[in-house]
Amino acid sequence: MVTAAKPITLDAIGEQADRVKSVVAQVRGAMLAPNSRKKAPTYNTSQLMALTGLDKSQVDYRIRKGDLPTGRLNSTGSRREFTQPEVRHWIRDIRRDELRPEGAEAITIAVGNFKGGVTKTTTALTLAQGLSLRGHRVLVIDCDPQGSLTTLFGLLPDSEVNVDDTVLPLFSGAQSEIGYAIRPTYWDGIDLVAAASLLFSAEFVLPAKQSKDPKFEFWNVLNYGIDPARLDYDVILIDTPPALSYTTINALMASDGIIMPLPPNALDFASSAQFWDLFSDLTTQLVANRGGEKEFAFIDILLSKVDTNDGASTYVREWISAAYTDKVLPVEIPKAAAVSTSSAEFGTVYDSSPANASTRTFKRAYEAYERFVELIEDQTQAFWRRQLGA
Ligand SMILES: Nc1ncnc2c1ncn2[C@@H]1O[C@H](COP(=O)(O)OP(=O)(O)OP(=O)(O)O)[C@@H](O)[C@H]1O
Ligand SMILES: [Mg+2]
Repeated sequence: MVTAAKPITLDAIGEQADRVKSVVAQVRGAMLAPNSRKKAPTYNTSQLMALTGLDKSQVDYRIRKGDLPTGRLNSTGSRREFTQPEVRHWIRDIRRDELRPEGAEAITIAVGNFKGGVTKTTTALTLAQGLSLRGHRVLVIDCDPQGSLTTLFGLLPDSEVNVDDTVLPLFSGAQSEIGYAIRPTYWDGIDLVAAASLLFSAEFVLPAKQSKDPKFEFWNVLNYGIDPARLDYDVILIDTPPALSYTTINALMASDGIIMPLPPNALDFASSAQFWDLFSDLTTQLVANRGGEKEFAFIDILLSKVDTNDGASTYVREWISAAYTDKVLPVEIPKAAAVSTSSAEFGTVYDSSPANASTRTFKRAYEAYERFVELIEDQTQAFWRRQLGA
């Protein structure tokens, strides 16, 4: 005889939640290598050359000249090692003409798609790292109560991030400018506004404020809140939750550009149509019907998790290009186990120590991301030029 399973009470769910939380806290060391704190990689001379575009004699010349960080020689004097801040110092010097011109403001880019698991968070982090390695200063804002991006930065959303240090106080009106929530990260050139699960309450706070005050514009809170940061950073990247929520609408309306990662499979493609449909309805209702305006500098579709062995993906890619035409970026991020195995479980191609970056899968993923970052940098520079009327 099958005995009926015991009903699960709310108390039991509470106990289970505590248990899972405590296991996550215990295994954080294993999830966030090394020593449970993430570390930026170090670079040798050939990697410095690749990142700066200098040749060996130019690097040697600048080292002799001594106006840039000289790194450290190993014990035999055969190899030089640079820290990540040192490498960025070189890059910002060599690429100074590629950086945000005086008088221009940061570009704000949201990564969005209400389908879950399409690589929004991975895209946001990889893009932040890639842009920082081109010399830009990046602020990333985690708008997802799941806090996956926060976790990728080596912080556990609830035990290490207080909800008062997320975007929530902006939404509730307790704060009006994002500065209070900005923290440095393990990665030079990237600052973070972290998330915690209570950020979820934004979904109640914003509509409640809207119904009390018809003049309130719930969709513009983040937009106004990040204004001061637009002068302090070159790029502001916002990771969004897999929902077209009040928070996501704030992220999209605060942005100059939108990137939608889209794996070429039929379900993800179909749901992307709903995303744009809903987004268009909402923005028309909220903005256009009130006489407001909103323009985006670009909307990019990024083909992600592309499995070239999957026959079906070929025709879905054709549908995607028929539907999104010139909005599809000319690059594909391959489906690659390597991108999730670099630096323990949580890391990107840029986190990986270049020493173990020699496999073919890794190289393909790395090169695809480099091309992606380059395409976004091009659009960012065009945005700055337009701002300056050039
Ligand atoms: N190129 C890739 N190939 C294979 N797996 C990948 C790739 N990029 C990311 N992943 C993995 O896919 C999963 C989902 O990625 P990610 O968390 O970035 O998606 P997401 O859209 O942010 O998800 P969510 O909707 O939950 O926020 C993760 O386990 C991630 O490690
Ligand atoms: Mg995510």
